[in-house]
Amino acid sequence: MRICVVGTGYVGLVTGACLASLGNTVICVDKDRRIVNSLNKAVIHFYEPGLKDLVEEKVAAKRLRFTSEIDDAVLRSDIIIVTVGTPPKKNGEADMSAVISVSKNIARIIKKYSKSIGDGYKVIVNKSTVPVGMGDIVEGIILEEGVDRNRFSVASNPEFLKEGSAVYDFMNPDRIVIGASDNRAFNKLAELYRPLNAHIIFTSIRSAEFIKYASNAFLATKVSFINEIAKICEKVGSDVTEVAQAMGLDKRIGKEYLKAGLGYGGSCLPKDVSALIHLARKFKIDPKVLEAVQTVNMDQRMYMINKVKSVLKDLRGKKIAVLGLSFKPETDDMREAPSIYIINGLKKLGARVLAYDPVSELKAKQKIKGVAFCRNIYESITDVDALIIASEWNEFRDLDLKKVKSKMKRPIIFDGRNIYDPNKLREMGFEYFGVGR
Ligand code: UGA
Repeated sequence: MRICVVGTGYVGLVTGACLASLGNTVICVDKDRRIVNSLNKAVIHFYEPGLKDLVEEKVAAKRLRFTSEIDDAVLRSDIIIVTVGTPPKKNGEADMSAVISVSKNIARIIKKYSKSIGDGYKVIVNKSTVPVGMGDIVEGIILEEGVDRNRFSVASNPEFLKEGSAVYDFMNPDRIVIGASDNRAFNKLAELYRPLNAHIIFTSIRSAEFIKYASNAFLATKVSFINEIAKICEKVGSDVTEVAQAMGLDKRIGKEYLKAGLGYGGSCLPKDVSALIHLARKFKIDPKVLEAVQTVNMDQRMYMINKVKSVLKDLRGKKIAVLGLSFKPETDDMREAPSIYIINGLKKLGARVLAYDPVSELKAKQKIKGVAFCRNIYESITDVDALIIASEWNEFRDLDLKKVKSKMKRPIIFDGRNIYDPNKLREMGFEYFGVGR
């Protein structure tokens, strides 16, 4: 099939590259010409494992290309997938201006070239996370432009891609959700995804839109739940990793998203919980659970700062290494990264922070000031009073701990992601502080 993907963020680019690898011809559109030029040379503006090779391969095979000319891309395609950003406004509501502007553009193009499109039919698919009802708004925009109702359908097809494993997630989905109001659109999208052999759920557009919010909010709820349990574990002498593992074996609970840590970050969970809270309030529903999820999440960052304070006492002049700056491993995304809050909190208390991350240094420098960024782990921990693990990159798991101990001034580890064995570290002479153990 001929596909146009509007937006080349991690969702758009992963979607475009993966659909190309399923045998489709894909044109990805971005208004930023610099990004388009780089992408045509397979230079990617963010870090996502496996994506560069896939883009390179599909560009070379002429299955995938990038352009700033949206008119041509829309005209050539049967399916137009919108993946532009929906960032949160100050009040938590999702900002729909990019989705609306792209929809107006698509409507204009279909109308303007209606003669050359002839009897052609296009499905406009929304993959961006949008408030319930947005599909109707997009349909309204296109009809208002005077486009014949038989020439297009609007559909919602939310994405469930995790940064860091987005290519794998696309190719191995737990389910694919297609929301539409007519069989033409359902059939076309079912055909698109047929090679994945996945469980497809057909729903209304409004349900599809809500499924995305409810899913992300539930994942956030699991994380905040286990973080609260972790705090209690610490007081009663249990180990949250053991508690979570056993809980997770109950199929009704499930083992995913039960890792206690420094709280959830990133561009999605925080934004979608806020948007759902906003939506509930709009309908005079008091979103008690969601508000608690959010509060627990913010507290989790303070919890780590307080823990460091209670061990090191006066932080003035103390040197602390923070390892892992991105909001989670395998990405360079710094949006809502717990490390930002923790480092700023430590600095406020007078500590000197040395920071290291395998890939996110460039983006971290834009978000965190007054910190010494180090080129490797051992440089960052030399002569420090303590070390904090803020995100669980594999290279931190494999550290030569003897060497670590010899380099640190005081062998104190705050393991914000519970990646080490507390007994082993204590035996080696470290003071070890995990989360909930
Ligand atoms: C999330 C969802 O998982 C995807 O399904 C969704 O498509 C995406 O948002 C989106 O809406 O675009 P992502 O933001 O990439 O994906 O990150 P996750 O892997 O879900 O992790 C979110 C945060 O929760 C991270 O900060 C992570 O460290 C934290 N987390 C996750 C925990 O603290 N404990 C866990 O057990 C799991």
